[in-house]
Amino acid sequence: MARPSYLRALAALLPGMTTLVCASLRDTPDVGTTPRLDLDVEVAVERFRGLAGMLPGAAIRYAVKANPHPALLRALVRAGCGFDVASPAEVGAALAAGARPEDLVHSNPIARRDHLRVCGLLGVRHFVVDSLQEVDKLADEVPGALVLARLLTSGAGSDWPLSRKFGCTPEHAVELLGRVAARGLRPVGVAFHVGSQQRDPQAWGPPIHAAAGVFAAMASAGHPLDLLDLGGGFPADHEGLTADLQTYGRVIEGHVDAAFGDRRPQLVLEPGRGIVGDAGTLVARVIAVIDRGERRWVHLDAGVFTGLVETLEEAIRYRLESDRHGPSVPCVLAGPTCDSADVLYEHVPVDLPIDLREGDEIRFRSAGAYTTCYSTVGFNGFEPLPTVLVR
Ligand SMILES: Cc1ncc(COP(=O)(O)O)c(C=O)c1O
Repeated sequence: MARPSYLRALAALLPGMTTLVCASLRDTPDVGTTPRLDLDVEVAVERFRGLAGMLPGAAIRYAVKANPHPALLRALVRAGCGFDVASPAEVGAALAAGARPEDLVHSNPIARRDHLRVCGLLGVRHFVVDSLQEVDKLADEVPGALVLARLLTSGAGSDWPLSRKFGCTPEHAVELLGRVAARGLRPVGVAFHVGSQQRDPQAWGPPIHAAAGVFAAMASAGHPLDLLDLGGGFPADHEGLTADLQTYGRVIEGHVDAAFGDRRPQLVLEPGRGIVGDAGTLVARVIAVIDRGERRWVHLDAGVFTGLVETLEEAIRYRLESDRHGPSVPCVLAGPTCDSADVLYEHVPVDLPIDLREGDEIRFRSAGAYTTCYSTVGFNGFEPLPTVLVR
C-alpha cells in the first residue's frame, strides 16, 4: 500500500541522517589544525577482527554511538560487521554505509514512539526493552518485532558505568518477555551491558548466569530464546588497563559454558570503544602554561566541550603524549572554554614535561570513541571536534 513510497521518502532522508549523526563532517580540517581527531579506520577493522576472533561465532554489532564516521561504518560493513543503533538517524547512517537491516539491533530500551515506528519501517527487526510500557509501544509500532529483555548490571569494575538508567531484574525480564509473546511479538533473547571500559572480565559472569535463568524460565513457558547479547564494555588502551582481549574471551567463554552447557545461545556483542577507541588520536595544542601557587595549569585548545566529555569526574584517563622528553611535573589539565567544569584532570594531575610551552602538541591516545560525537555544536564559539582520516 503506502509503504513503498514511504520507504522511498525515508531513503531520501538517509544522507541527511548520516550528517546528523556525524556533525564533525561539516568541516574537514587540514592536517596540522587543532584540535582534531586523527582516525585510522584500518585499526578499527583490526579491532573488529580481534573481537570476532575472541568469541568465534559471535555476531558483532558495532555501537554506532561511539563514532558514526561514514568511512568507518563502510569499512566495518565490508569486514562483515553489523550495528547497534539507538535512533532513526543511526539506522540511516548504518544503512547508508551498506548494512542490511537484519544486521541491526535497536538497543535503546526507551525510545520515542515515532522513532520506533521509523526504525521498524526502515527494516530493523531486533529491539531491546526493559519495561512493559516499551513492549506495548513496540507492539503498536513494530508488528512482528523480535525482542530482547535488558538485564540490570552493577557496572562495577567499569570506568564509565551504565547502571541505573536501564535494565530490569531477571524476574521482570521473564514477565516482560511473556508480555512480548502475548502481544504477538517474538521473545528472542536477553541483553545486558556491564559498563563501558570494563576492566574486569569477570564482570560478565553474574549477568550471563542470570540470563541463563531467564532462558530456562522462558523455555518452560513454551517460548525458548536463542540470543544472548553480551553488550559492549570491551576496553580501549586507557590508563589502568591490565587484561588482554584473549583473557576477556576465555573468561566469558567459561561463563557461557558453565551457564548454558550444550544449550549454547547465539552470542551477540555490541562493542563501541573496543572497536574504535584505539583507532583515534585526539590532537590538541597548548594555549597556556600557568603556575598558580603550588600548581601548574596547562590549558589546551580541546576540552570537556570539544570531545573530552568522558574526562568528567576524571572517569576516562587517556594516555597522553608530547614531543618533549625532559623531566616532568604534575599538571592540572584544562580545556579552552570559560566554563569552570572544563577541567580534564585535577584531582589526579597528569605528569607533563617541565619545558612544555604554548603551541606544543598534546596527543590523547585511544580517543576514537565518544569524542567527535560528544562534542558541543559551538559552546563559547568553539567548533565541534573535526575528524581527519589518516587511513
Ligand atoms: C546498549 C549499548 N550497547 C553498546 C554500547 C557500547 O559500549 P562500549 O563503547 O562500552 O563498548 C553502549 C554504550 O553506551 C550501549 O549503551
